[in-house]
Amino acid sequence: MYDTIDVINDCWGEHMSKPIIYITRNMPEHLLTKYKDHLQFNMWESDSTPVPMDVLHEETKKADGLLCLLTETIDRSFIEAQTHLKIIANMAVGYDNIDVQAANDHNIIVTNTPDVLTETTADLAFTLLMATARRITEASRYIYEDQWGDWSPFMLAGTDIYNKTIGIVGMGRIGQAVARRAKGFNMELLYHNRSRNEEAEADIGATYVSFNELLEQSDYVVSVVPLTEETEDLFDEYAFQKMKRSGIFINISRGGVVDERALYDALKNRVIRAAGLDVFKNEPIDSTHPFTTLENVVLLPHIGSATIETRENMFTLCLDNILNVFQGKEPLTPVK
Ligand code: DGY
Repeated sequence: MYDTIDVINDCWGEHMSKPIIYITRNMPEHLLTKYKDHLQFNMWESDSTPVPMDVLHEETKKADGLLCLLTETIDRSFIEAQTHLKIIANMAVGYDNIDVQAANDHNIIVTNTPDVLTETTADLAFTLLMATARRITEASRYIYEDQWGDWSPFMLAGTDIYNKTIGIVGMGRIGQAVARRAKGFNMELLYHNRSRNEEAEADIGATYVSFNELLEQSDYVVSVVPLTEETEDLFDEYAFQKMKRSGIFINISRGGVVDERALYDALKNRVIRAAGLDVFKNEPIDSTHPFTTLENVVLLPHIGSATIETRENMFTLCLDNILNVFQGKEPLTPVK
């Protein structure tokens, strides 16, 4: 039979041997079960509201691993305040919220969640493209706002998708998955990327063009490009002027790649036909955002990878990365 001191020793021993992982949202318990033999978890209490910065600081200082979301800004000063943090597992494929260089400087591993969200995010890109082309949200509002009078030939007429030209900016995994969907619509495929992707050219039949050529020739310009110093405000006034007046702009990557004032003006003055946006410079936006005053825009609250299956897979991949690190193995999806 245990006496009190044995119990304390056991608990202490267990505590010492299991790395502490801080999770910045309240995540489903059942997804943690299989990791609990090896890791112990502290979680922020809410699944919807981000953890306040002071709590994040305090909790992370006690932790060996951090599982965070794109809502958390992990900058150099945050990283420098850590004493024994070994891994930051970001539950997103994009990691512009983390100063990776600062983490590297402090021997902290950073991981992200590629692959598991590729198809889901490409589905959303195409959903947004189709909803924008066919004015789906505007059409739906027609009914809710009692605007549907007599049927007429050009009532809510959108524009075709089939046989048109799509220009994908950023031909990584998600860009290629968007291209595969576009192929099913018999679209001509153009792409622009930091470097040519000959594999994509051969597999999907996409043609590499310069950024300007892509803007000039595409009916649909789709941004799948990560946010970096190089791509910040890539889609500016000049870019929208280069696009066809009938062109549609879709952004599923990061709001920071767009000069939003320039996009607003381009939409308002019909320099381009329409835009479908899942991401914004400063999220969340609300009903007072200037974009909400425009008819030719479809707005979504950053739901690119938001399916139950994919979000569970992203979370599990973060946990697998963390477990690997504490078992002395290589993380599965490190950011370098
Ligand atoms: C990502 O993973 O970067 C997405 O934007 C999150 O849905």
